[in-house]
Order: sequence, then C-alpha cells, then structure tokens
Amino acid sequence: MQRSSVVRKTLLLVMAALVGFCLQSLPAQAGHHGKAKEAKKAILLVTFGTSVERAQKSFDTIDKEVKAAFPKTEIRWAYTSKIIRHKLAKKGTMIDSPEMALARLMDDGYTHVAVQSLHMIPGAEFHEILANANLFAQMADGFKALRVSMPLLINDAAMQQTLDIIKDQLVPKERKADEAVVLMGHGTHHTSDAIYSAMMYKAQKMDPNMYVGTVEGHPTFEEVRDALVAKKVTKVYLIPLMTVAGDHAMNDMAGDEPDSWKSQLAAVGIKAVPVMKGLGELKAIDAMWIDHLKMSIGPKHHH
Ligand code: CO
Repeated sequence: MQRSSVVRKTLLLVMAALVGFCLQSLPAQAGHHGKAKEAKKAILLVTFGTSVERAQKSFDTIDKEVKAAFPKTEIRWAYTSKIIRHKLAKKGTMIDSPEMALARLMDDGYTHVAVQSLHMIPGAEFHEILANANLFAQMADGFKALRVSMPLLINDAAMQQTLDIIKDQLVPKERKADEAVVLMGHGTHHTSDAIYSAMMYKAQKMDPNMYVGTVEGHPTFEEVRDALVAKKVTKVYLIPLMTVAGDHAMNDMAGDEPDSWKSQLAAVGIKAVPVMKGLGELKAIDAMWIDHLKMSIGPKHHH
C-alpha cells in the first residue's frame, strides 16, 4: 500500500469516527417540546413464579442481591405463568406478566431497561420473553435501550459453576461418598432440554454418585432410578435444580403421594432425603444472574 493511500484511509477513518461521535452526542430521542429524554433505568426480573409461600424466599434473596448490585436502578418483577398470576390475584397479590410490566415501564418513562430471565435454561419461556421484548424495543417513542439477559445455564462454565455451588452449599455435609445426590430439573419439550443431559454428564464426571433427572424432559426419573438400583445405592439426597423449591419440589420430588420421586425410590428400597432449597436462595447463584445483567447492561448502556 502506498503512503498517500494510507494517509487517505486514515483520514477517512478519523472523519467516520468524528461523524459517529457527533451523532452520539446529539440527543438520541427528543421528547415533547424538543427536550431530550433523561435516562431512567430499570431492571425487570422475570421468573416462572410460584404460589408456594415458602418458595418466595428465593425471590426475596434475589431481590435483595439485585438491589444491592444496582442501588440506583428501579427493580421490578414479572411472572411468566398465567396460572400462578391468576392464583395470586385471587388472594389479592397482583403480579404483572413480562409484557404488562414492559408496557408499564414504558408508560412510566423508563428509557433503559434490562430484562433478566431468572430461569434455569434458555427454553420456551425465555424465547417468548426475548421475542416480545424485541417487539417492545421497536415501538416508536419508547425505550432507548432494551436488553434481555441470559438465564443461568448458558454455557459449559456456567453449568460447572452451578454444580460446584450445589455440591458446596446444598449437598449436606454428612453425605457419605457412597450416598447419591440427585438433582431434579424441570425438563421441557424445547430443544434446550439437552442442557439437563449435559448437566448429567458433568455431574457424573465430578462425582460418580451425582445425577441429574427431570420432571418433564430428559434424563427421565426412570433413567436415574435404574442407574441407582444398578449401583446398589441405598440412600440419596434429592435437590431441586430450580430457581425455587416450589410446587415441583414439594410434590413431584418430596411429596408423600406414590408417584413422587421420594416414594418411587422408597419402592425400590432407596431412602430419599429431600433438600428443600431453591437455587435462588444461594447468593452465589444470584451473583451469576447479576453477572449476566452486568454484561447485558455493559458500557453500551451508557451513552
Ligand atoms: Co412445571
């Protein structure tokens, strides 16, 4: 390349940068009477929801941790489950859907909104939030920035970190090496169901007596049960791989009905000890969601 052409290219770059700078320093969106909108920031925490009173503990911990990490930001909540929202409404507790919450934030004049999915995996609910948030982002005279940040189990490192935290903080200290630990994930028809099988693989690599099963997907409970029987395991700790220890943990995992995991294990001679704690109750897990929030808000958030 000749020197003159290098100079010309450099000049072009400088000019492009200057134009970019000028555009950025203009008020991005003029409100009424030509006044620029003042930045007003909010975080919307979105979860499936729960109607179980004591499971609320997870949400209380998450709320406290997020408020501590973002003290100047408005924090709001939304539940994706219509059934749970209606159940709570009958008892007088009104909780928004993500769409209602976004509409309210827009109406209240928030300009920069980060939506945090407090789900385990990027499944059907996460993708619904993402699709609808993208539509909200397109609305005229609406948000200046709207970002959706990722749920918990989004890559290999996050899966490993989650397993490490569970082993360290949820598996009871008195557990002996020949006693098994079974994590109960939700499971889904969505392709992201495969994450639970990846978790099973990683759990087994970490500790041959650590298993992952799901209520509605794969690995199935039967697969886990058969592996425990083949290994002649006599005692297991059951731990929810879920944000809350709610309805699934209370009934499907630890219930007294004959179809609960605890009862089905008892039927094959395995004593099951449930650990009734949601992952959201662990500050180390909440810190992972908060990291996702920080990443999605990032430097782009501040013009
Ligand atoms: Co469910």
